[in-house]
Amino acid sequence: MCGIVGYIGDGSAAPAILDGLRALEYRGYDSAGLAVLTAEGLSVRRRAGRIDDLALLIDDELMSSAIGIGHTRWATHGAVTDNNAHPHADASGRLVIVHNGMTDNVTELRAELLADGHRFASETDTEVIAHLIGIQRDAGASLTDAVGRTLRRLAGAHSVLALAADEPDLLVGGRVGSAGGLVVGHGSSEAFLASDLPAVVRHTRNLQVVEAGETVTLRTDGAEFQDLNSRPRHRRLFSVPWGPMAAAKAGHRHFMHKEIHEQPETLADTIRPRVTLDPAELRLHDFQLPVDAKAVDRAVIVASGSSNFAGMVGARYLRDLARIPASAEVASEFAYAPGPLSDRTLIVAISQSGATADVLLAVERARDAGAPVVALVNTVGSELTRTADATLNLHAGPEISVAATKTFVSQLGALYLLACHVGEQRNILPADQLARRLADIAHAPLAVARALEIEPQIEDLARRFHDAVNFLYMGRGLAHAIALEGALKLKEISYIHAEGFAAGELKHGPIALVSPDMPVVAVALNDELRAKTLNAVAQTRSRNGRVILVATEGDDLEDGIADEVIIVPGTPSLIAPITSVIPLQLFAYHIAVWLGVDVDQPRNLAKSVTVE
Ligand code: G6P
Repeated sequence: MCGIVGYIGDGSAAPAILDGLRALEYRGYDSAGLAVLTAEGLSVRRRAGRIDDLALLIDDELMSSAIGIGHTRWATHGAVTDNNAHPHADASGRLVIVHNGMTDNVTELRAELLADGHRFASETDTEVIAHLIGIQRDAGASLTDAVGRTLRRLAGAHSVLALAADEPDLLVGGRVGSAGGLVVGHGSSEAFLASDLPAVVRHTRNLQVVEAGETVTLRTDGAEFQDLNSRPRHRRLFSVPWGPMAAAKAGHRHFMHKEIHEQPETLADTIRPRVTLDPAELRLHDFQLPVDAKAVDRAVIVASGSSNFAGMVGARYLRDLARIPASAEVASEFAYAPGPLSDRTLIVAISQSGATADVLLAVERARDAGAPVVALVNTVGSELTRTADATLNLHAGPEISVAATKTFVSQLGALYLLACHVGEQRNILPADQLARRLADIAHAPLAVARALEIEPQIEDLARRFHDAVNFLYMGRGLAHAIALEGALKLKEISYIHAEGFAAGELKHGPIALVSPDMPVVAVALNDELRAKTLNAVAQTRSRNGRVILVATEGDDLEDGIADEVIIVPGTPSLIAPITSVIPLQLFAYHIAVWLGVDVDQPRNLAKSVTVE
């Protein structure tokens, strides 16, 4: 899964492409490449490494070109090598493509081409696709029709961009399945094609979306859409509100640090426009539940990664605030075994990017079974917003760091509001209770601001613990999800092995791992499970385990109950996951800084995973 960018206009293509690729590095960053068309023909530069390494290969000849395509790679088929970096050419060398997706039937297609005498210079499925497009053109098809016909043959989900030396005034894009996205941006005398908005909105807000099963032929002055059988299609123009400045680091060393510190404001942006306290009202202006709340007999939350852990908390919110049986399922599992679903099963799909292939597939399965789907997303206009019946936007602003922080917290806020909304509609929450719940969530941004004040203590802890090679994270109830999220953050950005589990399970296995060399982070919220979690802490310490305990202000803890105690502000128990995740985000961040890891772009990961 990768990022792709195309440029055509009256400017220089190479710098515009490099700039677009930098904005898409969140999708993968192990190799990069570009191709432009000059008076001499196609020029390709590509290499393993980051965009900055690619920039070193751009010379004056390339700068003269006003049309080109580029790629930032997250390896799927083929190792991270210069040869496997995109763009890839067809057999003639007169056309090149960049590609995002995975070809499930590549073995058959490659065998077919090998039998016909084709030879490949890389291990990628992309080169196979380039050869297939070349065959169509040799048979007389235009570049657009050749791309469309080739996409019809590919199993899996794909976006491609193609550039041909003998059609020098156009770029062709194509999409099939739910792989990433493909957006067209129209400037005054230039046009862009890219996997996602950040690569385009820095130049123009006038956009069109290429839907699955479509090609687009892009010229400087416009775009023509057609389906994969060359029948014309119409796509409406729309504009997006985010400006590029929102994505700048604003003096922070890393985007992750900035995003952690933005959380009081971004959580407020999720909540405050929708909540008033006097009179107490919840108004989800831009959202309507796509089903009668009283008819819902079950809710299933589907998501991946951090969003899945937010979903675990959300399931509890729906159970407690709306009295609906609710569970959170990993999207990639749910998609292949969804169990019985009906038009009374409310599906809540959570994805900050709105582009995660596993989530899109899970939603497709749910819709096939007639289940109403609500999406919680941060990326306006993303694929998930178009497939769901209704969308609750997080409004957290762009999140650049690969590790999710502010979107996780905003997801918790939005899930809380959703549960209150459903509870209200089901007459579960009478006015006085709703008013109390709304006041609780309205005060959460302030509690987050106070939780951030513990950063100096966490920095010191990170200094003392950064040489541990394994960590255990445990909690019960709502804190279980937070323990899992804390462990995931540490894994993602510090490469330290961390295992999260329900604290009640300590005695059923993980306790065998307890030793002074494996610190245990325990999260004990001030709720009905607090004493049980503290029992697990005691069991750990009596086996020489070192415990870092996250506890709540006002909790009357015995002296010496843990090796280290981190206190977060006291809140009502349903709000506590929002504050207790803050020290775990900071802990992972500062450990990664100590270890000198590339915090914002950790190895092997990508911000948005658009392949299964
Ligand atoms: C990727 C990221 C994770 C993220 C997950 C879900 O794997 O590396 O950090 O939690 O995708 O992303 P989503 O955009 O669907 O919330």
